[in-house]
Amino acid sequence: MTLIRACGGIGLMLALGLATAAGLRTTKAEPATGLTASSPVDVALGKNERVRFEQLLSRKIVGGRTPSWQQYARWGKELIETGRVAEPPEGPSPSRPLSERYLCLHCHNVQREDIRLTVQDPETRERLIRQLAPEDPGRVDSATVRLTTGATLWGAVNRESFYNGHYTRYRNQTLADGRPMNPYRLADAIQVCCRFCSGGRYPTEWELDAMLAYHWELELRLRDLDLSAEELDFLLRGLNSGNLTEITAARAQIRRRLLTASAATKGSVPLRSEGDTDFYADGSRIVGEARRGRLVYESACAGCHGNVINSLSGKALLMDDRRFHHFIREGTERDGLYMPLFTLERLSRPQVADVRAYLRSLPR
Ligand code: HEC
Ligand code: HEC
Repeated sequence: MTLIRACGGIGLMLALGLATAAGLRTTKAEPATGLTASSPVDVALGKNERVRFEQLLSRKIVGGRTPSWQQYARWGKELIETGRVAEPPEGPSPSRPLSERYLCLHCHNVQREDIRLTVQDPETRERLIRQLAPEDPGRVDSATVRLTTGATLWGAVNRESFYNGHYTRYRNQTLADGRPMNPYRLADAIQVCCRFCSGGRYPTEWELDAMLAYHWELELRLRDLDLSAEELDFLLRGLNSGNLTEITAARAQIRRRLLTASAATKGSVPLRSEGDTDFYADGSRIVGEARRGRLVYESACAGCHGNVINSLSGKALLMDDRRFHHFIREGTERDGLYMPLFTLERLSRPQVADVRAYLRSLPR
């Protein structure tokens, strides 16, 4: 049995095997399916969305030819990192920027950002960033993990719904063809983000396909789940058992270990601030630490501040405490260049206090 494109092949076999098992011969054990720790979650869950998308792309013609999957993924990476493609398959070279100012990377990481997949915690994320200790945490590129306003694109193909929590209000945004977005389709989420989050234009069909292909390159594998070696071993035995009940149980376990939806809880602005302390309506008092705030500032703010996006940086952001807090928790809402808000999953109250303390400590 040859298994080129092993992932897809195995997955399809598994899906077919299951259909048979469920429909007719429930007693007959299925053959082992050969899933390993490196197998994609998409395949292990029997969804096989990637293979279907690969098949779809292999039937499309762009600029007179049929680009390979790798070619699409490279264009997608370029679009997400630089906003345009140097040598696009059609149209002018380089391609027209998706947005005049924003890159996806200003608001999204493309790497793992949480130590535990199901726990979106900006303080653990900050610890991870300190461990990785980039020389320049404000650097906007695909190698650096930063404290961003949007969730990481790593593993986004494995999520089941988009724009959750506070962002459900954006689910009525429309796509290029006037349809409302479907919050269960990653392709729709990307289009909305291109047009509205990035304050740019809708992607063309090949650009969207390219970005989707790159998102698939960032898919989760079984080894990425938070499982001990024993748990992973047990999971693989279940998945490979050929027994429908065991496979179903193993798949349910995978889904429990995934972030199937990224949460977004709106934070509030403190009632008042005094010195380095923020006082919130619920009675909590948060004292900022300038020493910690520097990395938070560089990681969360500097990518957009002190450059072409917004020239204000450092102490200039602290002319007014209320305005400072308002921009972080409410953002600004307008088309084009605006500041996105930070939800509690993206910046905690102590982190906000730390940034303020750091900015206060700077010389004028
Ligand atoms: C100015 C900030 C900003 C920019 C630029 C931006 N995004 Fe977003 N994006 C967000 C925010 C905020 C959300 C809200 C949902 C979340 O991530 O929690 C989001 C959501 C998404 C989602 C859905 C995530 C989910 O799980 O709900 C995808 C996919 C996405 N963006 C892709 C992109 C791509 C691709 C680009 C570049 C073309 C881009 N974004 C540019 C801020 C931005
Ligand atoms: C994705 C880009 C982006 C990020 C990240 C970002 N900002 Fe902004 N910020 C902006 C833009 C753009 C403006 C101008 C918004 C406008 O005029 O509507 C702005 C405006 C502000 C202002 C108002 C300045 C004034 O008085 O006019 C403050 C304060 C501020 N940002 C603080 C922060 C802090 C603190 C962080 C980090 C925790 C941060 N920003 C992260 C883009 C960003």
